[in-house]
Amino acid sequence: MKAHSFQTVSDIRIENGGASKLDQYVDGLCLNKRIAVITDKGVASLGLMDAGLAALQDAGYKVMVFDEVVADPPEAVVLKGVEAVKEFQAGLVIGFGGGSPMDTAKVIAYMAAHDRPIQEVYGVGNATGKRLPLMLIPTTSGTGSEVTNVAIITTGETEKSGIVADALYADRVLLDSALTVGLPKSITAATGIDAMVHAIEAYTSVKQKNPISDALALTALGKLRNSIVQACNHPDDLEARETMLIGAMLAGQAFSNAPVGAVHALAYPLGGFFHVPHGLSNALVLTEVLKYNQSRADGWYGEIAGSLGLGTNSGVLIDDLIRIKNETAVPLTLTEVNIPADAIPIMAEDAMTKDRVLQNNPRAMTYDATVKIYESIL
Ligand SMILES: NC(=O)c1ccc[n+]([C@@H]2O[C@H](COP(=O)([O-])OP(=O)(O)OC[C@H]3O[C@@H](n4cnc5c(N)ncnc54)[C@H](O)[C@@H]3O)[C@@H](O)[C@H]2O)c1
Ligand SMILES: [Fe+2]
Repeated sequence: MKAHSFQTVSDIRIENGGASKLDQYVDGLCLNKRIAVITDKGVASLGLMDAGLAALQDAGYKVMVFDEVVADPPEAVVLKGVEAVKEFQAGLVIGFGGGSPMDTAKVIAYMAAHDRPIQEVYGVGNATGKRLPLMLIPTTSGTGSEVTNVAIITTGETEKSGIVADALYADRVLLDSALTVGLPKSITAATGIDAMVHAIEAYTSVKQKNPISDALALTALGKLRNSIVQACNHPDDLEARETMLIGAMLAGQAFSNAPVGAVHALAYPLGGFFHVPHGLSNALVLTEVLKYNQSRADGWYGEIAGSLGLGTNSGVLIDDLIRIKNETAVPLTLTEVNIPADAIPIMAEDAMTKDRVLQNNPRAMTYDATVKIYESIL
């Protein structure tokens, strides 16, 4: 029998409207009453944090807001945040937003507690030791970053590097579905499909597939599949929004322990070279990569289809994902996101370097297969 291990965030709270009572939710986490909130200008301008920040101030906390995060956070922004948080002498870091602010907050909380160059901490298991207390509050239902030990940072012009370490598991997570009500349809769809990819790739993660991630992945997929189209078409449906938020979190717990595979490897260059949002990049390559994997993952895809009540063969799962892509109206081709045919070779070369995730794929991915997959969605 194979040995398994599983880690996750130990303190996860769920309350619609909870973020407006942030003073109650930070209880016990911040000794010096100085809190740094890490976010992006989009989230800040929506006013999603206003009630929570006012509640903190009323309760006697000093709050600094660092809102310079941008999508696919560049290293320079992370380092600027580290300096700001150190200078402010924060006793708690809160990541408030989608995957980009949450990943940035994770790295800031770690780096602000150390005097070491960031280059030393990229990779798996290099960010060891203490960090500042860390709380994460997602405003998209996608990355699951709130419960993962991963942060993805853009280094240089196009390259993305991961920091994977147990120190990046947050101390506390708050899921507040009210924060996601204003998510535009396109972001709801793309980030939701990203979460579905996390669950599917966790279930077929050849090296670290484990029974706990399996259970989480299947439950996550059931929730996401049942709510994604409804949340896209009825943005105010709080029940659908909460189901998506919980589904994305469960998928995050699953893939944090059974890492993602070739869908992500082929998606990364679309973001790196052309700034296609992470969820949309995944949505674009998803079904073609699953078709490629079918010969090795047929049984697993069939099990997923069975748990969703679709039947027991892998084809019905792929057909259902195509239906979801159509019903949520995500772009279906590289052309629609302005990626030209002549970029395919360089994107395929780049995808081949993503060994950290490719090694988890159920079927070995090749350069030629990658080119064919990109060509099939041109
Ligand atoms: N750490 C992990 O485990 C992990 C996993 C997958 C992806 N990622 C990373 O996460 C990032 C992507 O995160 P994301 O998909 O959540 O997007 P994001 O955080 O980049 O946000 C995308 C856009 O959505 C806006 N937005 C966020 N919440 C909103 C709301 N409630 N209403 C309206 N607009 C809102 C933001 O302002 C931004 O413009 C990438 O950098 C990716 O590499 C990390
Ligand atoms: Fe992802």
